[in-house]
Amino acid sequence: MSRLVVVSNRVSLPRRNAAPGGLVVGVLAAMRRRGGLWFGWNGEHAAAPDQPAEEVRRDGISYVTIEFEPAEYADYYQGFCNGILWPVFHYFLNGFHYSDQQYEAYQRLNQRVARELQPRLAADDLIWVHDYHFLPLAQKLRERGVRQPLGLFIHTPFPAAEVLRALPVCGELVQAMLAFDLIGFQTDVDLRSFAASASRLWGAQCLNAECTEISMGSRRTRLGVFPIGVDVDVIQQQAMEAQQDEACRRMIAGLLGRKLMIGVDRLDYSKGLVERFRAYERFLEMHPDQHNRVTFLQIAPLSRADVRAYSAIRRELEQAAGRTNGRFADTDWTPIRYLNRNFAHDVVTGFMRAAPVGLVTPARDGMNLVAKEFVAAQDADDPGVLILSSMAGAARELTTALQVNPYDTRGIANAIDMAFNMPLAERRERHQAMLAVLRRNDVHAWHERFLAELSAAGAQSSSMRVSNTTMA
Ligand code: G6P
Repeated sequence: MSRLVVVSNRVSLPRRNAAPGGLVVGVLAAMRRRGGLWFGWNGEHAAAPDQPAEEVRRDGISYVTIEFEPAEYADYYQGFCNGILWPVFHYFLNGFHYSDQQYEAYQRLNQRVARELQPRLAADDLIWVHDYHFLPLAQKLRERGVRQPLGLFIHTPFPAAEVLRALPVCGELVQAMLAFDLIGFQTDVDLRSFAASASRLWGAQCLNAECTEISMGSRRTRLGVFPIGVDVDVIQQQAMEAQQDEACRRMIAGLLGRKLMIGVDRLDYSKGLVERFRAYERFLEMHPDQHNRVTFLQIAPLSRADVRAYSAIRRELEQAAGRTNGRFADTDWTPIRYLNRNFAHDVVTGFMRAAPVGLVTPARDGMNLVAKEFVAAQDADDPGVLILSSMAGAARELTTALQVNPYDTRGIANAIDMAFNMPLAERRERHQAMLAVLRRNDVHAWHERFLAELSAAGAQSSSMRVSNTTMA
């Protein structure tokens, strides 16, 4: 079996108090199963310039990590990745300001990664690159003579062509992406958006009805839909065991018998938290009989805290939570418990199992693994109800969740009421259907399917190279 080489901006050598997000969880599952090399940023700032990459080996995985120099952190990570690509990919066009300087830093960082990675590669490696941080990486590696199969998986949404057009360098980026042998997306909508941009910007053509192969000149790139999943058995086990954990027991004791509704998100403006808080406030306005009977626990660990848009949303949420608690709290009841801290993953699944309602209402999300984890963590005999934004990739699979428009605060308030009052038989039926979907497409199916497709795409590219050489 070929060695797996993964490149992602963040690796799971954890930065203290980091909120890692679904990417790291998914990649770690693949790396634990197959071993290999994982290249990326260790979350630290370089003390001095030109520091070489560091390598540590643990449990069959070689972690090769770099630290960011101040300009890389500011212009590549905070700037181009999180201040430009992230908002554009999530359709937040009012929150982005294009900067040439940041784009150049992005290109330079991709060069640096290609330079560091290339000498570490073996002839039959499979190289799997993740997310919007490395759209031009295949091009940079090819320029250095790398011929191994190169795949890219986009964890976020890929924006519609009309939205991507707002980015002045979208043409260059889309062209560079076509140097990958395989590009994977969370949903068919994302795949179609990419194909539409490649066609509009470069005249690329879909070679079949599903557009699983695209051609531009003599270049062929495969496209595929690979919705990321979760490890259902591990989460079920963790969630059950965590009930005995001190943090879970304290949380449950603190509810004093009230019903729990839970939300767990990185503190990000794409997660729809402001609207979610408003919806809960509306629910309390509409249902005075529920006062002192429910508690909403929102866990939102800080993320990208020094990007301006993130500090703004943080302030807004503090005010919103304060307002709701100020209006409705009683001497012995806090309606919203809003925590900006991180808990161990197993503890969070324990919290989820104790919650009759899970609220996952992003304004836009590539997949949203919290939704899937909430379902996996439930007691199948007495499951909680998932309220899910129709704007999350997960909504395409979890069709028996209560789906809501994340901007419709009245609709969410009604869904909360419905969820708390849903009869057991209906809860079970909805939960069973979702669990079956999660089992069919778990995190292992995700990486196995992607890597099988990448091997095939790589074999096809190299045979095309051989036949081109023969013809010449
Ligand atoms: C999302 C992105 C990931 C990213 C994660 C955490 O899930 O798709 O690529 O790693 O957020 O964000 P951060 O900027 O802290 O790595």
